[in-house]
Amino acid sequence: MTVRLRMTIGIMAIILVANSILYFITVRHISRVFLQEVQTRVSLDLNAAWMVYDGRIESVEQFLHVVSLNKSVASAVKANDRTQLAKLLDAAHDESQIDMLSLVGLDGKVIYRTTNPAKWGDDVSNNLLIAKALEKQTSISGTVIVPKEYLESESQSLADRAYFEIIPTPAARPPEKKFETSGMVIGSAVFVTDETGKKVALLYGSNLLNRRYRIVDSIKDVVFRGQTYEGKDIGTSTIFQGDLRISTNVKNKDGSRAIGTLLSAAVADKVLQKGEVWSDRAFVVTNWYITAYAPIRDVEGRIIGILYVGLLEEPFARPQRVVLNLFLLLIAVMTLLILALLLLLTNVVLKPITQIIAMSRKVTSGDLSARVGVHPTGEMGDLCEAIDQMAHAVEEREQQLKIATSRQIGQSAKLASIGRLAAGIAHEINNPLTGVLTFAHLLRQKTTMDEQSKEDIDVIVRETTRVREIVQGLLNFARESPPQKQSLDINEVLSQTMTLVRSQKEFHKISVEEKFTGNLPYILGDKNQLQQVFLNLSLNACEAMEKGGTLSITTSVRDRSVLIAFHDTGCGIRPEHMERIFDPFFTTKPVGKGTGLGLSVSYGIVEQHGGSIEVESEEGRGSTFTITLPVEGSETDRRQNA
Ligand SMILES: Nc1ncnc2c1ncn2[C@@H]1O[C@H](COP(=O)(O)OP(=O)(O)O)[C@@H](O)[C@H]1O
Ligand SMILES: [Mg+2]
Repeated sequence: MTVRLRMTIGIMAIILVANSILYFITVRHISRVFLQEVQTRVSLDLNAAWMVYDGRIESVEQFLHVVSLNKSVASAVKANDRTQLAKLLDAAHDESQIDMLSLVGLDGKVIYRTTNPAKWGDDVSNNLLIAKALEKQTSISGTVIVPKEYLESESQSLADRAYFEIIPTPAARPPEKKFETSGMVIGSAVFVTDETGKKVALLYGSNLLNRRYRIVDSIKDVVFRGQTYEGKDIGTSTIFQGDLRISTNVKNKDGSRAIGTLLSAAVADKVLQKGEVWSDRAFVVTNWYITAYAPIRDVEGRIIGILYVGLLEEPFARPQRVVLNLFLLLIAVMTLLILALLLLLTNVVLKPITQIIAMSRKVTSGDLSARVGVHPTGEMGDLCEAIDQMAHAVEEREQQLKIATSRQIGQSAKLASIGRLAAGIAHEINNPLTGVLTFAHLLRQKTTMDEQSKEDIDVIVRETTRVREIVQGLLNFARESPPQKQSLDINEVLSQTMTLVRSQKEFHKISVEEKFTGNLPYILGDKNQLQQVFLNLSLNACEAMEKGGTLSITTSVRDRSVLIAFHDTGCGIRPEHMERIFDPFFTTKPVGKGTGLGLSVSYGIVEQHGGSIEVESEEGRGSTFTITLPVEGSETDRRQNA
């Protein structure tokens, strides 16, 4: 996975999560505010509904008052004139829309019933409103439940209207009975008085609420102004007798009024049992409503029913949904925008990285001249800069290495060809030289020789010996004698060599310091040849320090190699000579003093041991010759012996 993809996915995830959280918080908040708003409205609507409900009771009461004020009623009661009473009350009943209108004696027995004139003289204290008025001796109004018997004595049609076959409802309490026979009525009982103010009878009038829709419909019309939404009433109202719907304008699917069903158990428990107002959203029959349920109490304060108002949720929820969808759209657009910007930005930021990768691939495949090329500002720019510098350094190093290698190869080739030539000549010279030396020695032993001749012969012997040494050196240089290799402790070889060297008179002005690292790993080498190398380097150092000085010899281990360094405080080597000091016969020393073979022979020996000689020097301050030899068994050593 690319860095860009990973970065994009990461940031996208963060944005998505952040936006989702933002969205859900907003949705919750808006929903809550909205619900509260509508809930407040429904509570207000409930109050208005109560006013309609109470207004109905009041209008019955008012009507009864008007009738009771007619003194003819009182006189007719006193005179027990039933014809006159019938005439008066029937006229009043016809004029009103009251379901039941009757006159009751102070003993609680019916004097005259407008709905059923044939039946009179029966006791109606089973009507709580009448019983309460007689008991308290005062007019009274309100809501009460009346039994089936009472309704039947009024009229069979009223009893039929009150009758309900209870429809079982899923969320409701299981019904205790299958039928409802009693009825819920609102009404009033008003005393009729004679001229002296004495009570003579009780005028009773009431309306049966069961299947009477005037209250709920006027609540709908007055409170909700009959508003509809897609053909459905926005505001609905219901009157419950207990938990049974007896009057409502909530419609079933078929358009009929949803009466005979039961209230859900949760609401029933809160309103009927605890007497509290329930207000919340609720699913009523076919739709979601924001509802309010309040208990209806009878004249004794017992809870006998519920007044309900509900607002269809949909018309309020829709604008809320529109707002939320708009918000969602906004967030989506914003997310896309941010994403686009992000892609653009990552492109800009990550371009150098792509460049760096391409450049590193080029370098790896051998193109050392490749560079990142772009240099943006900031850390990325610094990085590009650093990588370019690194590439430059690598290129330079490579070039130097190439030069050094070619030089070394040249040196080796040169030495090899000179070596072959020298070896040929040396062979040819060696035999006659031996002859010259032998005969010079023989001549020297002659007693007849004068002093001058003896001295001359000594010169011949000395110079010839020197030539032989040179020839021997040449033969060594040409690797005539192959090395006899054995495991060697370099420290030991060195100290043996140095004891030999120190005894030389040339070394008297020079102090030799041995700085050996103990427990050096063994190297595989020819002891004699290595001693010759150490000797050559020591002599060169000595010759470089004509006025005395210090020769320090250091041994150490590095990277599976043993390092031997000869450091002197002598005259140093001139830069222009550095290239040539390993060449055979190169010498800066006067004729007769130097042969120019020491270093070239040493070079050949060390090379044959798989090692190398390096030199560092500063003119006038001194030189350091460092020999590196592979440790026995190391990679280089094995290659050397293979
Ligand atoms: N330790 C040293 N200090 C200064 N110059 C040196 C040193 N070792 C070698 N040289 C230079 O390298 C030359 C070559 O040395 P070498 O091959 O041993 O031949 P030779 O010693 O016979 O001159 C010397 O003539 C000298 O100029
Ligand atoms: Mg020398």
